Amino acid sequence: AVTRQYQFDVQTTSVTRLCSTKSVVTVNGQYPGPTLFAREGDHVEVTVVNHSPYNMSIHWHGIRQLLSGWADGPSYVTQCPIQPGGSYVYRFTIAGQRGTLWWHAHISWLRATVHGPMVILPPAGVGYPFPAPDGGEVPIVFGEWWRNDTEAVISQALQTGGGPNISDAYTLNGLPGPLYNCSAQDTFKLKVKPGKTYMLRLINAALNDELFFSVANHTLTVVDVDALYVKPFTVETLIIAPGQTSNVLLTAKPAYPAASYYMLARPYTTTQGTFDNTTVAGVLEYEDPCPTGAAAAAAAGSKSVPVFSPTLPQINDTSAVSNFTAKLRSLASTEYPAAVPQEVDHRFFFTVGLGTHPCAVNGTCQGPNGSRFAAAINNVSFVLPTTALLQSHFAGASRGVYASDFPYYPLRPFNYTGAPPNNTNVMNGTKVLVLPYGADVELVMQDTSILGAESHPLHLHGFNFFVVGQGFGNFDPASDPAKFNLFDPVERNTVGVPAGGWVAIRFHADNPGVWFMHCHLEVHMSWGLKMAWLVLDGSRPDQKLPPPPLDLPKC
Ligand code: C2O
Repeated sequence: AVTRQYQFDVQTTSVTRLCSTKSVVTVNGQYPGPTLFAREGDHVEVTVVNHSPYNMSIHWHGIRQLLSGWADGPSYVTQCPIQPGGSYVYRFTIAGQRGTLWWHAHISWLRATVHGPMVILPPAGVGYPFPAPDGGEVPIVFGEWWRNDTEAVISQALQTGGGPNISDAYTLNGLPGPLYNCSAQDTFKLKVKPGKTYMLRLINAALNDELFFSVANHTLTVVDVDALYVKPFTVETLIIAPGQTSNVLLTAKPAYPAASYYMLARPYTTTQGTFDNTTVAGVLEYEDPCPTGAAAAAAAGSKSVPVFSPTLPQINDTSAVSNFTAKLRSLASTEYPAAVPQEVDHRFFFTVGLGTHPCAVNGTCQGPNGSRFAAAINNVSFVLPTTALLQSHFAGASRGVYASDFPYYPLRPFNYTGAPPNNTNVMNGTKVLVLPYGADVELVMQDTSILGAESHPLHLHGFNFFVVGQGFGNFDPASDPAKFNLFDPVERNTVGVPAGGWVAIRFHADNPGVWFMHCHLEVHMSWGLKMAWLVLDGSRPDQKLPPPPLDLPKC
């Protein structure tokens, strides 16, 4: 294990997409940002220097941060933001994870352009538990692009109480591709050699959309999700939610085909409202082993080759999504066991979904029925404090910053997938749920259809969890737990709560600190679909959160 050092200069950069130029916040001038490489077991130190005019912080999405909660990054949760002109060194060790994760800004909507891949290789001398990709490894980052300034988009939505303007394009490695106006030159091309196998490291960094992804005439073998190995399975189309990552193998055709192939991504959504239903395309092309062949001719412009396009599921095809997620299983091998908590000592039931806040002047806001859009867990819409929760907790000064009475169960039980209740209002609060060190937790998350059933990718900081069960309709505590998979459930950090359904997860709370949990659809996050767990120190010295680093930013 070694120490990997990086410097991230956060700055404003002019970027042109869809024939229009705007100033965006980037790391080191790049969109998407630089790739961070490390091996499992390595120590990582990233010096983040904020040259931008915004308060900001960076989250290492999926990194467990065992006893290093000060480096987790969500603004006002584990740290105060880094102010313009300030800097902070994130220090953490990568343990028990290998695959692909990513980093992103964790304040307001800055993550739209402030994000990049984290490639985590196995320790030196340790191979993959599947045949190594002999062609190479390629990060594929999906993003979402607005012609307008994204900070203006969200602040306008929050002011009016309505939904934010939808995006103008999706991007693949920062590029919209040929299906958008004037973007043919802005197309990501993957060049492959016949017969070789490639590992695509997929990252969904889009703000508000789950995506279907498919490559024409090629299959994808899923080997890893959220930096944990799975039992390999092969599909034509996969689904990836914001926050999720996956490694997939793609084997090129044995002989050179004189053709090129679209790699397409477009949203999955069940919302009735408006959303960006455009499609991003990249192109997979073969390098002709025979230089006088068709590819050379095509490259010289003297001959064009046919382009094949994959067929993606319908935009609201929930069964395509559940068929895919049902295939995900932990590898659960001797080398990579699945440490599923078999016994549970804390059980929680959370409703997740949208709701409303009343408007200051009744009926004048642009949300449902003249109200303001809101979102909540167990009817509590989370309000960020003005100082970081972890700092207050560590200083023993929670009073007035947060309350420790986050409800274990929804405050208003009703038929979650049936007719919505008359009163759709949710309450505001900065509430945390306290867990003793080492608690084994079971959490059932139930989608509500208060403003329409919708899939919510819930992300937990500080832990991986096992997805022990899921289903449609209302969760039934009498019959559903008997069907839980406690043997090889998939382990991950972000899971889709199915539209009109529920998901059950288990995790072992062995990481003291304050850990954010939220919907990774950024608009839902802005509306309050978030909460925090506070995991207390254990009794042994190696079960206690160390004191904060001296350069921790102040509010
Ligand atoms: Cu990827 Cu709290 O976020």
